[in-house]
Amino acid sequence: MKKKLYIGGQWRETEDYTELFSPYSNEKIGEVPKASVQDVEAAIEAASGASEAMEALTAYERAAILDQLVSLFIEHKEQAARIIALESAKPMKYALGEIERTIETYKFAAEEAKRLSGEMIPMDAAKGGSNRLAYTLREPLGVVAAITPFNFPQNLVAHKVGPAIAAGNTVVLKPASQTPLSAFLLAELLDQTDLPKGAFNLVTGSGRSVGDVLVESDKVKMVTFTGSPTVGKGIRDKAGLKKVALELGSNAGMIVDEVVDIDLVVEKAITGAFSNQGQVCISLQRIYIMENLMEDFLSRFKAAAGKLRIGDPLDPKTDLSAMISKEEQERAANWVQEAVAEGATLVAGGTVQDGVFQPTILSNAATDSKVSCQEVFAPIVIVNPIQSVAQGIDEINNSDFGLQAGIFTNDIKTAFNASKKLQVGGVLINDIPTFRVDQMPYGGVKESGNGKEGLKYAIEEMTEMKLVIWNQS
Ligand code: SIN
Repeated sequence: MKKKLYIGGQWRETEDYTELFSPYSNEKIGEVPKASVQDVEAAIEAASGASEAMEALTAYERAAILDQLVSLFIEHKEQAARIIALESAKPMKYALGEIERTIETYKFAAEEAKRLSGEMIPMDAAKGGSNRLAYTLREPLGVVAAITPFNFPQNLVAHKVGPAIAAGNTVVLKPASQTPLSAFLLAELLDQTDLPKGAFNLVTGSGRSVGDVLVESDKVKMVTFTGSPTVGKGIRDKAGLKKVALELGSNAGMIVDEVVDIDLVVEKAITGAFSNQGQVCISLQRIYIMENLMEDFLSRFKAAAGKLRIGDPLDPKTDLSAMISKEEQERAANWVQEAVAEGATLVAGGTVQDGVFQPTILSNAATDSKVSCQEVFAPIVIVNPIQSVAQGIDEINNSDFGLQAGIFTNDIKTAFNASKKLQVGGVLINDIPTFRVDQMPYGGVKESGNGKEGLKYAIEEMTEMKLVIWNQS
């Protein structure tokens, strides 16, 4: 129950601890160390000290370490999923899905470690460049600080730790304070691999004592963060000249054109809007549907939402459980009430029952209601009518965010045009914006952040390009 920090390959006690409770059952599930400034500095020192050992590893050795981690996750699949379900209330079926993805993420990291390469530069293409041979190398940065969110406590950690190891960096991980237990399991598993001691360090706690020390340290060469735009901007302001990769939120939208298979759209929209209680950066939050389809879609969508099994995350049949905290559930309910006061119609949900915020559908929500223009991070979706796909594109682009967007259409020109006009990091044709597999480039524009995740792309962010020129004259 009582956890220890993992610093320099040693388990380390600290003075202060926080009790951790399950968001669904409220039972105590652990005691988590609150790292002091000295603990965080020790973790940075350990990571910095291990940089030389990491840089000395061959690509083959880095891949082999990641392969060892893959095998350990396969062995501990059920345990890892159960920890996610306990600490975040993610229903077990989705928690198992997250571990499957985590395994795949580390597999891709192992493969990409072997593909890390530079390119030949045709120097004689310039008048002054003849008789020279030039190529680029990609070198590790050194210490990477990874600050991760509660919504995918194992796979979004893998998206930072996997590429960092593949590239030859060392890591200090600060997981979300609501979901640290998954990170402790990761530390236990990495401790059993051939990773040099000190190359991975885990510090838990919150506020100045952890995050700020990491972000402001000169020894940390990159901060990779997933979370809210407010925190992301704060990191950027404090990080000085170090690299910063920010994967922030969104209010993802989807357009439904005429002549599409409505049953398929309903099925996909249920997954997009309600999986993991809507606590996904690309959760389907806004549906813009051609007006003539609206009534039929709404009645089928409401009926499908009504069939979701709501309850204990540990029950393998559960589809939807509690959000991460009571405060978050109250916020979600307040946003729904505000939207209704501002003109929206409540089609389903909107309240907490038996400790769970119900899957919620609103129609005709105002553009400036919070449920439309801010990131809702709850099982809430708005459905608004449009007269044309062009109007839907304008609605989606009328947002501070731009992570992913979807469009269902059978018209190839419409799809092509939407893919050009939508101001987002990824456009999904005939799919929900919530779709993601782990090797694809993933990252947004506007307030959704900068930089790309997806192993190949994250490794590029986590390495420095060096140019070597041989003068042969
Ligand atoms: C996120 O919430 O940004 C991650 C979504 C995913 O990996 O499916």
